[in-house]
Amino acid sequence: MRQQIAAANWKMNLTYGQGQELLDRILNENIVLSAHQRAVFAVPFPYLVMAYQRLVSKDNYFAAAQNCSDKKSGAYTGEVSAEMLRSIDVKYCVIGHSERREYFGEQDHTLAAKVELCLENGITPIFCCGEPLSIREVGAQNSFVETQLREAMFHLAEAQFREIVIAYEPIWAIGTGKTATSAQAQEMHAHIREMLGRKFGKPTADNIPILYGGSVKAGNAREIFQQPDVDGGLVGGASLQAEEFITIIRSLK
Ligand code: PGA
Repeated sequence: MRQQIAAANWKMNLTYGQGQELLDRILNENIVLSAHQRAVFAVPFPYLVMAYQRLVSKDNYFAAAQNCSDKKSGAYTGEVSAEMLRSIDVKYCVIGHSERREYFGEQDHTLAAKVELCLENGITPIFCCGEPLSIREVGAQNSFVETQLREAMFHLAEAQFREIVIAYEPIWAIGTGKTATSAQAQEMHAHIREMLGRKFGKPTADNIPILYGGSVKAGNAREIFQQPDVDGGLVGGASLQAEEFITIIRSLK
């Protein structure tokens, strides 16, 4: 079975102590994940080592970064490289979140460089895509998402692409409480998978986890995750509450 992933995206929330407490509460549930299931915690950079130390002994639990630099190394004050993440054993990194694109001007070519650097360092990119409301309203979401994926990742070899995780996050559903319906999520996920199949071949496309993101919470996770092409979620707000995220992990197929 394709990997199913519950990914928490803490964004710029929680103090160090609050982060420790949240992780401990979730881990104390001792949810046993099957071989195809993953729980991933994208925490702020200063908390990565703390998260790693708590998660390393648990099967299929991982710490993730929320971003990395598009440069290899050097005089880039304030940046964190993929190589640095590898040196502390980080296995996943969120790339191209819509907040990075919108507030920090990240563009497709920058994201392409980040994806490559992650792969060179053995880090799985969780590559985010998704359309704004204005695009959805005119029904142009399929080609919009297709362009995002093509520009940042279609230069990869098939063997490299196999390492990618995709997160479809319609921008109008992020932090708004307005979730895409499970049918809307399934429709886009199927479209993404079909498009990946055309480029990289069906076996590869069938094996890529495609997560849904945008106001996923305990109350809707199971229905969304049940969709055949939805392989879990990237969760912001609800990942900050232990009970919510515990239920979300338990909702994985
Ligand atoms: P949300 O955020 O769950 O708060 O909508 C999702 C995300 O931005 O990854």
